Amino acid sequence: MSTTKITAPQLEAMKARGEKISVLTAYDYPWARLIDQAGIDVALVGDSLGMVVLGYDTTLQVTLEDMIRHSAAVARGAKRALVVADMPFMSYETCEADAVRAAGRLVSEGGAEAVKLEGGRPYETAIRRIIEAGIPVIGHLGMTPQSILEFGGFKTQGAAPEAAEHIKQDALLLQKAGVRAIVLEKVPAQLAGEITRALRIPTIGIGAGPECDGQVLVTHDILGMYDKFTPPFAKQYADLGQVALDAFKAYNSDVKDGLFPER
Ligand code: KIV
Repeated sequence: MSTTKITAPQLEAMKARGEKISVLTAYDYPWARLIDQAGIDVALVGDSLGMVVLGYDTTLQVTLEDMIRHSAAVARGAKRALVVADMPFMSYETCEADAVRAAGRLVSEGGAEAVKLEGGRPYETAIRRIIEAGIPVIGHLGMTPQSILEFGGFKTQGAAPEAAEHIKQDALLLQKAGVRAIVLEKVPAQLAGEITRALRIPTIGIGAGPECDGQVLVTHDILGMYDKFTPPFAKQYADLGQVALDAFKAYNSDVKDGLFPER
């Protein structure tokens, strides 16, 4: 595995070579280091931060300051992986100038090497302006968590033919606007496959089946470290929650019993 930094423009070349793209979320320095050492291509500072790290029920409470702080910590740990930071709720919806300013802060203060934002056509101009400012953008379509109030929950999107066509058109529009990749979240696998074949840029799936060019999961889900729910599409690779609990209990007993520190 090469140790040179992955750049946003390289994602398209990876798709062209048929090389799958691996993405995990990262929120701090120690996990970013491990994700990087494991050879994961992209460390996504997702606004899932709000749920799995900060304990909110949705991503809507995450602020730009939260994202900048956590992105900077990830950037210090990720030597090879591309660092992509999510633009949080209301950092880009208000106007294009706000969007460029927020993206700029994620890069200059947060060390991000690309930003990701949710939605299609309504944000086309904002996306173009961010790219013109020299910042690579990753799109995000389908079940976009910042719209859960409108969706009525974390529900699959694009099941009906009209909704599927809408997502496909948005994907083509984002590609034309210059995004470097598109996350497809919780859309039917068949639709994700169709979009993947229609695009030159890579799709990164989460709950979107095996035909995407890459896959992303929330790190806390694959490590068994989020207590509230685990999405059915997430594969748990370890139960670090249990390992940590056992260690904390052992330490607690040692302190209570006077066994630590040793005399
Ligand atoms: O916030 C996040 O972690 C994300 C991924 C689930 C794609 O956007």
